Formats: sequence, structure tokens, C-alpha cells
Amino acid sequence: MDFKQNEQTFTFSNDQRKIVLTVLTPEIIRVFEDHGESGDSFAIEGNKQIQTSVNVTQNNDQIELKTASLTLTVNSDLRLNVYDNHQHPLVLDYAGKRTPLDRSVNPEQEKLAASEGHDVLTNEADNRVLVIKKLASDEQFYGLGDKTGYLDKRGYEYDNWNSDVPEPHVESMKALYKSIPFLIGVKQGHPYGLFFDNTYKSHFDLGKESQDYYYYSASNGNLDYYIIGGKTLKEVITNYTYLTGRVPLPQKWMLGYQQSRWGYSVSQKDVAKIAEKLRANDLPCDVIHFDIDYMDGFRVFTWRKDSYDDPKKFIADLRKKGFRVMTIIDPGVKVDENYWVYQEGVKNGYFAKSPDGTIYVNKVWPGDAVFPDFARKEVRDWWGKNIKYLVDLGACGIWDDMNEPASFNGPLPNDVVFSDGKKESTHAKIHNVYGHCMAKATYEGLKKDTGKRPYVITRACYAGTQKYSTIWTGDNQSLWPHLQMMIPQLCNLGMSGFSFAGTDIGGFGADCTAELLTRWIEAAVFSPLFRNHAAAGTRAQEPWTFGEPTLSIYRKYLKLRYHLISYLYDRFYYESKTGLPVMRPLVLNYPADRKVQKMNDEYMVGTDLLVAPIVMEGQTSRQVYLPEGEWLDFWTGAEYCGKTTILADAPLDKLPLFIKKNTILPWDQSRDHVAVESNALMTFRLFGDRGDYVHYQDNGTDFEYENGQCNLYEVRMGADHSEIRLSHFGYEKPYAQINLEYEDKKEVYFFDPESESYQLKK
Ligand code: GLC
Repeated sequence: MDFKQNEQTFTFSNDQRKIVLTVLTPEIIRVFEDHGESGDSFAIEGNKQIQTSVNVTQNNDQIELKTASLTLTVNSDLRLNVYDNHQHPLVLDYAGKRTPLDRSVNPEQEKLAASEGHDVLTNEADNRVLVIKKLASDEQFYGLGDKTGYLDKRGYEYDNWNSDVPEPHVESMKALYKSIPFLIGVKQGHPYGLFFDNTYKSHFDLGKESQDYYYYSASNGNLDYYIIGGKTLKEVITNYTYLTGRVPLPQKWMLGYQQSRWGYSVSQKDVAKIAEKLRANDLPCDVIHFDIDYMDGFRVFTWRKDSYDDPKKFIADLRKKGFRVMTIIDPGVKVDENYWVYQEGVKNGYFAKSPDGTIYVNKVWPGDAVFPDFARKEVRDWWGKNIKYLVDLGACGIWDDMNEPASFNGPLPNDVVFSDGKKESTHAKIHNVYGHCMAKATYEGLKKDTGKRPYVITRACYAGTQKYSTIWTGDNQSLWPHLQMMIPQLCNLGMSGFSFAGTDIGGFGADCTAELLTRWIEAAVFSPLFRNHAAAGTRAQEPWTFGEPTLSIYRKYLKLRYHLISYLYDRFYYESKTGLPVMRPLVLNYPADRKVQKMNDEYMVGTDLLVAPIVMEGQTSRQVYLPEGEWLDFWTGAEYCGKTTILADAPLDKLPLFIKKNTILPWDQSRDHVAVESNALMTFRLFGDRGDYVHYQDNGTDFEYENGQCNLYEVRMGADHSEIRLSHFGYEKPYAQINLEYEDKKEVYFFDPESESYQLKK
């Protein structure tokens, strides 16, 4: 074996292979083998390497590298083993070969089964790049983004190939809309992360094929992955989001309720009706979504004229009632010689091409359509400028859809020519980052046009897109299993860096029922993206559709959400610093508790709220596991000692919700939309006997907070001592009044501008 060191880069080679290890930080190691692919990472931007010392020792045939957190050994076969700094194994190369699953099927049986429509899965994925790691008997897996199924991914296999899937999403599906090849493993209680930064179609088999190994592979590209350490699961996520980026602080109203349905925006009359009903029924709401129907013949960056008098005025009128308008945009540009977007794109060569050099055409909503080559900066800049049309009309953000890219005339062939940002490349390489590049274009355009924190929602994405966009999980259906799946799916997305995520509440496809809608709004009440959306042609599922008691229950949970907008905003403030998700599985907070390692039907918000929704038709009570600590029933105040399972009563109007004893929650006033500049009053409620809380405040809209224009309040509440301390004062609108609410009393404080402090009203 040949070994070379160049500062923090270590090259190991033998007759067959050359592996390069780069130490980026004491916890992040890049493993690289050149297979001839060039181009930069799409997920990682900027230099993430910090100077750190690496201790190198050589004994016999083995070289050992030691950072402050990880120990790596490489032997003469170039086998790599990684341990934490207490010698606990984390990631170990598997010495043997794979043995593909024996499905006991001969070609004749396969043909026979296929004739009835069965999918016989004997085809081996194209595994030109292959990494096989040892699997421990107790190893658990999390992450991988939006994959279907359950929280622990062990025992399943998945593909990364962004796919538009209108059929019901079930646990046997290997790929959905997103490719986030970030895996978290826990080996004998010791966590690690693996980020496989390869944009070609890739595959993860997590102990399905064998109990001895797991593997990940890709059809092409370099062998390029990162081993990520950390003492806890939380540290692994913090390190991963250091590498690929964090969800930036949102505008505050983005946390409000959002109403949508494919079909509303056909006419101004229809949207006006929805807005009116929301207010008439006392349903708080911040955003109404405009699906594809608002466009003129599905031409992006146009507005239909037949059913709108004046879209700008209409949007301004909605704004006066507290509603913002979110407009959808698809990547497919209609082929139409008389349409300026098409003309400009053709003139400047902005669209993807067939190998023969002609513009590649497929079909999407507008019929024949062409696809912007988003990896090129000039194309992103052009797209960003086009967005100004919608911003000038008053849109609050852009919902990027169909950007896998979806196509109706068969999939795009692998050899369609797209740029990789530096040079000509192929659809095979760009497919999984197409949505990422579109979201980036959208974010940058919105930021330039508005100066505000951009609101982007995207359906397709890659690792790292969290820097630019929120996400939703695409076309789920009004099915109980999809309500059930929401919990592990959003939890795994959160552990994969995507903490601003949501599902279509009520389900997109199929027909919702009153009970399903009720349980969905309860279960999703802390889902970061909080939107009810349905497909054209499905039964209506607005909160009033089913009459009472659905409407009142729905309202109750919207109101609860609006009391807790500032709390969620605080959680996003911490998320933007640590990458830790707002909505999270219990295992993230209690990694050593075996009871929660595979828990699919409870989740937490930060560290203090535990949500145990009803996700099964007809159920009116359920078992709830409460982990270590003391817990209070949010509704009744009943106390429980943790590490116990209780039976919670859950009639239709009740979400089983628990709060850690001695927690303070900021409690917003009731209102019909998020008024970002409201600074008259803030209330803090104590649950328990005493507590501490740090609350964050800024203008909720732009980037001034980056210049220190924000306030941090340290609140302490207890029977004999309470205190409010402005520990950072940079935003000139501190709350005029702060109420501290105890179970049995209330204290009122006023801001004294002279001393810049809060004084108790005697
Ligand atoms: C896709 C989207 C869905 C949208 C529809 C029409 O199916 O996933 O949310 O309503 O297209 O634009």
C-alpha cells in the first residue's frame, strides 16, 4: 500500500484502487475514489474544511488516523474502519461480497406472475459504485428523507430517483419525490451519519439482503461519501447540517395555517368564496395557495384573464383581510412561438437538449413543454427574474412543483443533455438535483426581488435543498395509512435536515371523511408546514365541508396552533443554529430508550411537547408511552412519571398532548392571521412549578436579524421568583407588556424604555 499525506488529505493506493480521505472537521471525513466524474457537489456549498490536527500512526500493514473525535484505520486491502474515540465501531468495511436475495423464482414463473401484473423484483440495480458495510445485530437506521414506511429503515431497500408517484404511497415503494442520500445509523448505541454525495440513481439496502451487511450503490459517478461522527444523534445531525446547510429562519407567518385545493384559482370568484368562508367561520389562516389554474393555459409566469378582473388588486384585497397568496410554478415551459418565456429561453439556449442538439420536448400540463437547464447560473438568474412578475402582482412566495422533473410522455431519457453547472452533462446525473437547482433559482430570485426571507415550497429536492426551500411530501391520499405515515415520514425528513416539511392535510388524492380530516388536523397541528390541500375531482375537504362537529374541532386546533406560533418560531430559531428538527421522533431526545427506537405513532416538538395522535379510524383512546421525566397532560394538568405507558382518553375532539413538567410556553393571543409586527403583548405560560425559557423576537420578515436586529428574552418563572431579562436588545419593538401566567395567578410586566427592562406592575 502506498500512503501520502498532504495536510488533512490522505491518499491510500494499491495495485487496484486509490482512496482519498479528507478530514474536514474532527467529526466529518470525506471518502473519495475518482471514477472520472467531474463537477462540484450540489449539496455542499463553500469550504467546509477547518484546520484540525490528525494523528497518524503506522503499524505493520495498517495506518491509523486519529482526530479529536474519530479513529480511522486503513489496511493494505484499502479496507476502511471508523471508530469513535472510545474505540466503539461505527462504520466498518465489509470484507465479503454481496449475495443478492434469492427470490426462488425461475424465468417461467416470473413470466407467469408478470402476466397477472405482478412485479417480480429480480432485476439487480446498476451498481457500478458500491460500498458494503458491516451490519451489527442491533443496528438501527434513520434519515433518507421522504421514504415511505416506518421510522427505523432497517430491513428495507430504497432508491434515490426523484419520482412523481400518483399511486398510494406504500411501504414497498422504493422511491418518492426526493433524493436525500443521508443515512443515520446507530451501532450498539453509538450514532454516525453517512452522506453518499452521488446524484446518479442510487440504492440503499439496509439489511434486507443480509443480516451481516448493508450497502449503498450508484449507477455511475464517483465513489464519494462522508462519514459523520458525533457523540449523540443530535450531534450527528448538527454536523450533517453544518456540511449541507440548515433551514434558514422563516418569515413568521409561514408558520400559519394555509388553505389549498387544485381548482380554487380557476377564478377570482372561487378564491374569494374560500377567503370569505375562512373568516366567516372564524378559522385563522395566513395563506391561500393558487394551483396551476390561475395561469393562462398553464404557461408559467402568466395570469389568466377570463376569470380575473385585476389579479394585483385582487391579491391586495385579500392581503387586507390577512391572506397572502402563494402561486405554483412548474418547470415545464409551454412550446408556443408567441410566448415570451419560451421565446427568451430558445433565443438564449436555456432549455435542455436532445443529444442531436435540438431542444428536448416532453409533455406536462401545458402540452408540449421544454425544460430549463437549472444547473446553469444564467438560467437560474433568468428564472429568478421571471419570478418578479408574480412578486409584483403580490405573491408571497413560490410553490415549485413537478420538478423531478415529471413528464407525461414517458420519462426523460437518460441522455437528454443538461449542464452540471460547469459543462455538458446528462439527465442521468442531473435528474436528482433538478428540483434542487429550481428551488435555488426560486430562492435567489425571491430574495433579490423582495429582500424578505423567501418562501419556497418544493416537491423534488436533493440533500442540501433545505437551505433554499421548505417541502411537502407530494401526492398522498385521504387514507388512514397515509395519516399514520405522516409521523415517521416527517420525522425522518427532519433528521435528514428538512425541518420545514408537511403533508397535505386531509390527503391529496381520494375522498376524505369527516373523521379522517379531524384526526389529521389534530395529528398535524405541529407539522411545520401546515396546509390542507386536495386534488381536483376529489371530495371537498375544507374545514366546514362536513359541518359539525368537524368544523368546531378543526377550529380548536387552528386556534391552538396560533397560540403557539411564537413557540414554533423559537424552535426554528434554534433549528437555524443547530439543524435540529422542530418536529422530531422520540429517539432523537431519548436515544438510549429502547421503547422509542422504532416508535412510529408519537412525536415530539423540540424537547418539551409530546404528541400522540389518533391515527386509526374509530379509536377513542390509545396507549401513550411517556419517556423519562415528569409529564403533564396538556389539557387537564394531570401528572405522570415517565418511563411508563398510560391509556389516554381521546374522544374525537381530543389530541393526546403532553408537556414536560416545568416548561414555559410563549402563548400568542388569538387572531385570524399572524401579525408579524404585533408587539403590544406577549404571554408566557408556566406548566408546573418553575421554569426557564429563552424567547426570540425579530421583525419576522427580512434579514435585519443578521445585523443583530433581534431581541432575546430570558424568562424565569417560579412560586417565589420571576424575572424577565432582555439579554439581547437589538430590535426596537420590544413587547410593551408581558404577562406571566401561572396556574393560579398572573403577573403583568411593562417595558421601561429608560432602563430597557421589564418592571412588574404592582
Ligand atoms: C401535482 C402536485 C399537486 C398539485 C397538482 C396540480 O400533482 O403534487 O400538489 O395540486 O400537481 O398542480
